[in-house]
Amino acid sequence: MSMNLQEKTWPQIEDYLKTKKHILIPVGSTEQHGPTGLIGIDYLSAWEIAKAVGEKTKTLVAPPLCFGMAVHHMAFPGTITFSPLTYIQVITEIIQSLGRHGFNKFTFINGHGGNIAPLTTAFCQAKQHNETYDINLFNWWHLPEVTAYEAEHFGKENGFHATCGEISVTMFTHPEAYKDIPAMDFKPTQERPHWPMSPQEFREVFPDGRMGSNPRLSSPKHGEMLFNLAVDSICHKME
Ligand code: NI
Repeated sequence: MSMNLQEKTWPQIEDYLKTKKHILIPVGSTEQHGPTGLIGIDYLSAWEIAKAVGEKTKTLVAPPLCFGMAVHHMAFPGTITFSPLTYIQVITEIIQSLGRHGFNKFTFINGHGGNIAPLTTAFCQAKQHNETYDINLFNWWHLPEVTAYEAEHFGKENGFHATCGEISVTMFTHPEAYKDIPAMDFKPTQERPHWPMSPQEFREVFPDGRMGSNPRLSSPKHGEMLFNLAVDSICHKME
């Protein structure tokens, strides 16, 4: 049974809140992922993982926040970003909205590294409004089971952005979208530079948008393994 908030009615949410105050909130980004990765990878991966965790643990799942803090990707067409302060405010108000209805445990499933700093700042803001809130964050690609699998199968070529892991996960969850994307061979990129970077600095250092990855190693099969590892790991940690 779907646990998606958007597929429920308000009386169903009221009923849910009589026994459970916990909600999963998938967050990601709409941003370039190199020449062969989908622009939606960060929110699509977080959303699919959150939906599966929600079904397994019978926990309600909020609609995904498709946009994040992706200022440094703005030199690539298709990227949509909030400024850091706006993102902090959006996250704070999502928590406040749900909190008003009686939710008091918020588990964020995140698909984008640039969101981590503003997310944790927003959690401090929300906690200042209500000290009883229990707020948790899972950055799915940081889960130890996920990083171990990536290290074994991709090594250094997993990279830091447009990684083999995240492209694989969406090859598994969204195979149709990859049908029209031709395979390419990739040269190594520069090392990870000084951070933060402006959009233009990023594009100069990483001209095709990748950071250290070789997306050629990605596959739907790896994606299925990584997806299941992430879902199982989060379910286990939520027990
Ligand atoms: Ni990404």
